[in-house]
Amino acid sequence: MTDNASNTPKAKGQGQAMWGGRFSAKPAELMQAINVSIGFDKRLWAQDLAGSRAHARMLMNQGVIASHDGEEILEGLARVEDELLSGTFPFRDEYEDIHMNIEARLRELIGPTAGRLHTARSRNDQVAVDFRLWVRDACDRTVGQLEALQKALLTQAEAHAESLMPGFTHLQPAQPVTFGHHLMAYVEMFGRDAGRFRDARARMNECPLGAAALAGSPFPIDRQQTATALGFDRPTANSLDSVSSRDFALEALSAASITATHLSRLAEEIVLWTTPMFGFIKLTDAFTTGSSIMPQKKNPDAAELIRAKVGRILGSLTTLTVVMKGLPLAYSKDMQEDKVPTFEAFDALELSLLAMAGMIADLTPNTENMAKAAGAGFSTATDLADWLVRTLNMPFRDAHHVTGSAVKTAEGLGVDLADLSLAQFQAIEPRITNDVYAVLTPAASAASRMSYGGTAPAQVRAQIARWKELLA
Ligand code: ARG
Repeated sequence: MTDNASNTPKAKGQGQAMWGGRFSAKPAELMQAINVSIGFDKRLWAQDLAGSRAHARMLMNQGVIASHDGEEILEGLARVEDELLSGTFPFRDEYEDIHMNIEARLRELIGPTAGRLHTARSRNDQVAVDFRLWVRDACDRTVGQLEALQKALLTQAEAHAESLMPGFTHLQPAQPVTFGHHLMAYVEMFGRDAGRFRDARARMNECPLGAAALAGSPFPIDRQQTATALGFDRPTANSLDSVSSRDFALEALSAASITATHLSRLAEEIVLWTTPMFGFIKLTDAFTTGSSIMPQKKNPDAAELIRAKVGRILGSLTTLTVVMKGLPLAYSKDMQEDKVPTFEAFDALELSLLAMAGMIADLTPNTENMAKAAGAGFSTATDLADWLVRTLNMPFRDAHHVTGSAVKTAEGLGVDLADLSLAQFQAIEPRITNDVYAVLTPAASAASRMSYGGTAPAQVRAQIARWKELLA
C-alpha cells in the first residue's frame, strides 16, 4: 500500500526517462523493438534456405524466372549458407526477420537478381513453410530421443524382470510387482508418446508454400514440385488455411506436454526411490549434486528439474493456444509469437529426454531393499483371498472378508500374514490348509500373475521381447 509512488506524475516522468535510456522514444525505434524477430527466428535459417532453394528451382522449371537468374540465385544462396555455417553471416535487426535478412544478404552478394526470388511468394507462406519444417524436424528428433529412452528402460527392465518391488496404489503398498514390470509401464507410455509425434508429423506434412500472401499466385507455379522437393506428402489445399494455421505446432506442443507429464511421473518416482526412506535405487555422482552445507546429501537434481520442465512445456502450449485464439483469417502478426514458446518447449523436452535416458542407464536398484519392501504392508492379502476362492470355492466377497480378519489378527500381533500359524488361520476359517503358505510370499504372488500384461516375470519378458523387436 505504501509503494504507489509510480502513480504520481513525477514518478511517471522518471519512468519515461528510464525507458528513454534504452530507446530514444522515437516511435520508429519502439516499432522496431516490438516488431523485430531475428533474435529468435534465426533458428529457422536452414529451413528458410531449403524453402528458398525449392522455390527458386520450381520458378526456373516453370519458366517464371530465367534459368541464368535462377542459377545465380542458387549460387548466391550457397554463399549465404556458407556464411551461416561458418558464423560470419551478419544478422541485422533492421531487416526484421530471418526471411528478409537472408534476402537482403543475397542482394548484397549477387545484386538485383536476388529480387526475383520473391516472385510468387510472400513472407506469409515463407514463414509457414519454414516453421512447419522446423516443427517436423523437432517431431522426428523427439521420436528418436523417446526411442533412446525406451531402450535404456528396456535394458534395466531386462536385468530386473524378476526383481521384486512393492506395487502401489495411493502410494500405499498394494501388490508385489517386479521392477522390470514397473519400468515397462513407462516403455508403453513413451511408446504412445512417440506415436503421437508420428501422427502429428503425418498430419502436418503438407506444404503451404505457394499460398503466397493469402490468396494464391497468378504465376504458373507448381506447388506439387516444391512440396515434393521439401519432403512433404502434398501441398496444402487452401491458401487461406495455409498461411493462417498453426495447429501443427499446437498438436506437437500437445504431444510434448503429454510426454513431459509422463517424464515428470518417472522423475517423481526417481526422487522418491532415491530417498533413504525408500532406498530403492542409487544414482551415481553423474546424476546427483551435493549440498553446500550438508555433507551427507546426494540430491537427484536432474530428476527434480525434469519434473519441473512440464511447467515450461505446458506453458508453451497455453501460450500458443491463447495467441491463436480468436485470430481472424488470414495471417496476423500475432502469429510471429508462435516461435519462442515452441522453441523453448522442444529445447526443454529434448534436455529432459536425454537426461532421463542418462539417469535410467545410471541407476542401480537396491534389489534387497525393494524385495523387503515388496512383502511389507500385507501386500499378499489379495493372494490369500484368491487362494480361498480357488481352493475353497468361496465367493470373492466372503474371501475378502476372511482375509481382512487374517490381516487384522496379524496386525494385532505385529507380524506378517505368512507368520500366522495354521491354527491362527484356522481360527478364522477352519478349511484353510498348509498349502496357503505357498501363495503368501511376494515372489509367488508376482509369479502367479500370468495374465496377459501381468507382472509375472514370464509376462514381463514377453513385453520386453515385443518392444525389443518394435525398436530394432
Ligand atoms: N516474421 C514474421 C513471422 O514470424 C514473418 C511473416 C511476416 N509477414 C508479414 N506480412 N508481416 O510471422
